[in-house]
Amino acid sequence: MSIIDTDQTSFETRLKESAAETEALLMRLLSSQTQDDEIARPENLAAAMRHGTLNGGKRLRPFLVIESAAMFGADRKTALRIGAALECLHCYSLIHDDLPAMDDDDLRRGQPTVHKAFDEATAILAGDSLLTYAFDIIAAPETELAADRKVRLVSALARAAGIGGMAGGQALDLAAEKNAPDEAGIRTLQAMKTGALLRFACEAGPVIAGASDEDRKRLRTFGEKIGLAFQLADDLLDVTSDAATLGKAAGKDAGRGKGTLVGLHGMEWAEKTLNALTTEAVDLLSPYGQRAEILQEAARFVANRQS
Ligand code: IPE
Ligand code: IPE
Ligand code: MG
Ligand code: MG
Ligand code: MG
Repeated sequence: MSIIDTDQTSFETRLKESAAETEALLMRLLSSQTQDDEIARPENLAAAMRHGTLNGGKRLRPFLVIESAAMFGADRKTALRIGAALECLHCYSLIHDDLPAMDDDDLRRGQPTVHKAFDEATAILAGDSLLTYAFDIIAAPETELAADRKVRLVSALARAAGIGGMAGGQALDLAAEKNAPDEAGIRTLQAMKTGALLRFACEAGPVIAGASDEDRKRLRTFGEKIGLAFQLADDLLDVTSDAATLGKAAGKDAGRGKGTLVGLHGMEWAEKTLNALTTEAVDLLSPYGQRAEILQEAARFVANRQS
């Protein structure tokens, strides 16, 4: 077996392990049992939250939190909770992204989208509840982390998710269906709608571990690169793949007139850019030597994934 095969095997094993741990934790967090100071958990809403969260998914964002934290020696249990919080926020973004007023999709992770399995109002509220819960999970006493680090995470996640990040990017993405942005415009909207949460995932590790500012910035730049690569790969898969493989509709972006770099420059350019971004991301972590190997493998996975 070559060295590359060994790396890939350990990457896949570790992704599977962290996904299983994340799912077990999410299952506990999203149970129907109320927590301190909650009044009641409406069963239908809790079921919709579980439907939108415990339905497969690669769990890449929690993986990045866990591995970027491990790189700097942070406690795994704490990283797992921050990863689960981020996954709740990501799942909210998917539930709302699929709504009829947004991308209007019926299929997500191989299952009916939340508004199809339940109804639109429930899907909106499941998204609202998951978004809020993300911050609850970080702040909760069960998350064993110094208060100042929790505040930094809450603040960074809010910035990544809000008007200057994911939600703002989604607004630009919808506007782009009509106003055909140029390359800089598309890069900005993608850095926001997709890149910001991935950047947070990579930056979270050094923050949890209390690593240096230089480390945090390096991981942040790594996250920006794989964030752009991630959406580029998503847009390529939208053209080249099918719903059975993706677990979500394919061939939608051109149909809806989405502003994508694939649409603007074509597939060949996109593939070349994807490779260049991957090399840049991998090189950025080379000062860390062996302990960065798993994240470097993650960068390759982002570019080469099939779903
Ligand atoms: C899909 O994200 C939405 C985008 C940002 C392109 P993922 O491809 O990570 O979706 P899951 O979580 O694995 O389903
Ligand atoms: C997703 O972009 C961005 C989000 C914030 C969810 P897409 O609309 O391309 O994601 P998919 O293809 O539906 O997963
Ligand atoms: Mg969308
Ligand atoms: Mg979509
Ligand atoms: Mg897409």
